[in-house]
Amino acid sequence: MKKITVIGAGNVGATCANVIAHKDLAREVVMLDIKEGVAEGKALDIWQTSSINHFNTRVIGVTNDYLRTKGSGVVVITSGLPRKPGMSRDDLIKTNAKIVKDVTEKVVKYSPDAIIIIVSNPLDVMTYTAFKASNKPSTKVFGMAGILDTGRYRAFIADALDVSPKDILSLSLGGHGDSMVPLPRYTTVNGIPISELLGKEEIDKIVERTRKGGGELVNLMGTSAWYAPGAAAAQMVEAIVDDQKRIFPCCAWLQGEYGLKDIYMGVPVKLGKNGIEGIFEIELNKDEKKLLIESAKTVKKVITVLDEMKLF
Ligand code: LAC
Repeated sequence: MKKITVIGAGNVGATCANVIAHKDLAREVVMLDIKEGVAEGKALDIWQTSSINHFNTRVIGVTNDYLRTKGSGVVVITSGLPRKPGMSRDDLIKTNAKIVKDVTEKVVKYSPDAIIIIVSNPLDVMTYTAFKASNKPSTKVFGMAGILDTGRYRAFIADALDVSPKDILSLSLGGHGDSMVPLPRYTTVNGIPISELLGKEEIDKIVERTRKGGGELVNLMGTSAWYAPGAAAAQMVEAIVDDQKRIFPCCAWLQGEYGLKDIYMGVPVKLGKNGIEGIFEIELNKDEKKLLIESAKTVKKVITVLDEMKLF
């Protein structure tokens, strides 16, 4: 790919650009930030690792210069404020909705064909905001969260079992919040159901820790996480750029799937060069359905706040 853009050169954006460069996913990755010099500096720093880490992707940083993002094939939007201790992701809606709307409009102006990946929080509603602002098909505008959430879940399981995290296969549905729905019934260690290896109590504890995984890090660091969020977004970019047809939980526009309509939420999708190339509707038991509906309700509540802002 010729050009990938990452909007926002904060911790998440810079990490994402760094992983994109390391994976050599494009001829150039452009990082854009509103703070003078930040994107330029971080881009230069990353580019100076190219000879050490053996990559060719040029890393460019700009301040607010959307013209430099022109013609991007994929754009990752990380703009907005992160959480502070005591805040939920939903508390960010008022500030971040305006930012994400504004950024999306500018992105689309210069890269009308780009596939847009949203990382800003509250994730599900910011993805919806970008979808509305972009006037693009929902297959080209979607959000990162499930890879991050299952990344945490898989890391916790790998620790509990003392096995390689690479062998943990799993799924998580729902909103990117404390009501997310990691699915132990669809979790295996290279095909071995997790229930064969861990007791219910232990699995429940891991699920709970996963749900609050973002908050655990906010409490430790005073701001939200970046290594896993940045890497997760880059993995989505890779699936698109290399047309990998990978199956990941992503935040997608639902039109009747899982009985849900007009809502962006995490579901398993196929990612390839056209963006979301399919949504998988898997069978859920009664308890799982109930949890998914609860999660949808929390996302809908935040959509109501967005609607009241009358941005659209
Ligand atoms: C997290 C934030 C980025 O889960 O949503 O760490």
